[in-house]
Amino acid sequence: MGSVCYLNGTYQATGEARISPLDRGFIFGDGIYEVIPVYGGCLFRLDEHLQRLDDNLAEVRIKQPLKREQWREVLNEIVARNQETHGAEQSVYLQVTRGVAERDHGFPDSHVEPTLFIMSSPLKPLPADIAEKGVAAITHEDIRWKNCHIKSTSLLGNILLRQYAYDEHAAEAILIRDGEVTEGAASNLFAIIDGVLITPPKGPLLLPGITRDLILELAQQHQIAACEAFITPAQLKGAEEIWLTSSTKEILPVTTLNGNAVNDGKPGKRWREMSHHYQVYKQQLRDSP
Ligand code: PDD
Repeated sequence: MGSVCYLNGTYQATGEARISPLDRGFIFGDGIYEVIPVYGGCLFRLDEHLQRLDDNLAEVRIKQPLKREQWREVLNEIVARNQETHGAEQSVYLQVTRGVAERDHGFPDSHVEPTLFIMSSPLKPLPADIAEKGVAAITHEDIRWKNCHIKSTSLLGNILLRQYAYDEHAAEAILIRDGEVTEGAASNLFAIIDGVLITPPKGPLLLPGITRDLILELAQQHQIAACEAFITPAQLKGAEEIWLTSSTKEILPVTTLNGNAVNDGKPGKRWREMSHHYQVYKQQLRDSP
């Protein structure tokens, strides 16, 4: 049995699923998405992901296709149906677009139903040498629009920025807008500056990451000094540690920034400590009934 997806009410082989070329997701990138990791068959921080989806759909005025309970049912069903092929650790991707309509920038008639697509892939374990080596990052001007808090499927800016990083043999581009560091091309950013864990505050210039929120929660639980504050490129350059966080990459320690070592060029002790708390949190989910 291969990978199974859900498209507009039907479970089917992912490779066989078909949408209309007139779908506004295809034509305009007119859609919202979420990526939810699955550990031990359990969806991670599901309520938080569904709340962000709700907020995003409301903000861009796409109809919510399912009730909260239906979302839970369908997402758990996708995990179950893919367990044999992918195992118990998966990455679930969902997207809701404004639906199929004749091409016109304005919204289609209200009878047009959103397109709902959900798929799952195996969650790739992080490379074994991350804890030894960390990753390289570059900084780049943020070339995206000014509504980066919306998890839109229109990702051309993010794609180009990530590729600029890959072109420099780096894992991620850290973005700078108007003299402030905001986030990565597909990740949030934390830095340890003068012993304090800092992440830029939520607002229209960055995605309110689910992993980001969890790290702030874990910091509070474990009495790690943390705050939300703006970070300048100069502060980033002198940071004791830099981390990038996302649902699929968890917490990546950045050890090289623009070709220069971050501190001693090794993943820091604060990263080790937070990674440990994160792994414990994940394990609790796997062990939950
Ligand atoms: N991206 N910022 C951006 C621009 C992102 O694309 C992501 C995640 C994050 C981290 O958010 P979260 O912790 O909720 O995953 C921050 C996903 C994983 C992606 O596009 O594949």
